[in-house]
Amino acid sequence: MAARHFLTLNDLTINELSDLLDHASFLRREWQAGKVRNSLGNRVLAMIFEKSSTRTRVSFEAGMSQLGGSAMFLSPRDTQLGRGEPIEDSARVISSMVDAVMIRTFAHEKVDRFAQVSRVPVINALTDDFHPCQLLADMQTYREHRGSIAGATVTWVGDGNNMCNSYINAARIFGFHLNVACPEGYAPDNDLLSAHESCVTVFDDPREAARGANLIVTDVWASMGQEQEAEERRKIFAPYQVNPALMDLAAPDALFMHCLPAHRGEEISDDMLDQPGSVVWDEAENRLHAQKALLEFLILGKLEQ
Ligand code: CP
Ligand code: NVA
Repeated sequence: MAARHFLTLNDLTINELSDLLDHASFLRREWQAGKVRNSLGNRVLAMIFEKSSTRTRVSFEAGMSQLGGSAMFLSPRDTQLGRGEPIEDSARVISSMVDAVMIRTFAHEKVDRFAQVSRVPVINALTDDFHPCQLLADMQTYREHRGSIAGATVTWVGDGNNMCNSYINAARIFGFHLNVACPEGYAPDNDLLSAHESCVTVFDDPREAARGANLIVTDVWASMGQEQEAEERRKIFAPYQVNPALMDLAAPDALFMHCLPAHRGEEISDDMLDQPGSVVWDEAENRLHAQKALLEFLILGKLEQ
């Protein structure tokens, strides 16, 4: 049977995602209670990182260990991937030796090409276009704090980047409405927007977009690979800061999320992470639990308590 991959949220059905998020919350409770689990004993995850990471690396590596398996960190600096070995050749070899592969890279096309040849599940751990693992953690966190997100209004403030694109996918799958507030020229991809017309509205003014929202989300103004644009972007994005005044326009019990790392004084005010609606630390911790559920689902082909 061909391996299942997780390259975007669209690779799983809503029922699979829903079961996976329930399982992630179960794993969180089990882990917090100190129970030992060995569901992935002797299994190996290869982790290819072509960009920096704290949360993704720690959560995948710790997650595999906590499930009885292990993870291997591969950087282009010391593998043949960084010396031009074709991605398909690397995929054929690596996937013949491990049980799953996680990739963080630039062009999304690279994870597609790897997955086409891979014998084992491939997980997108962030590309320039999508960051679906973060959405698992965000959706888990919303459910744990507020229940179903179906019918809710979510407001994305800032750059129409990889995180925003994954929120657009999530809006259709999970049945919420997404307001996107971004400066002119920084809106998400047009084709993606046209395909999601019925569940996404684009605004210029973050205050209009935030009105009545149940969840407000933002991210860095300059993503990895855009470091040279950071200064110009700081000026352009200045009116798009999420702060308590913006949160006041949202629903009274609105939540705030940020995938982190955050830049205080830029996309968020200094005090934003400490506001009552901010759930960013749960959101970060849930990367661990959501990905453990994902690893069990992809490697074992089932979710079992
Ligand atoms: N949110 C996230 O993916 O963080 P890292 O870049 O630290 O992995
Ligand atoms: N949009 C950010 C997310 C970091 C987790 C980036 O791609 O750098």
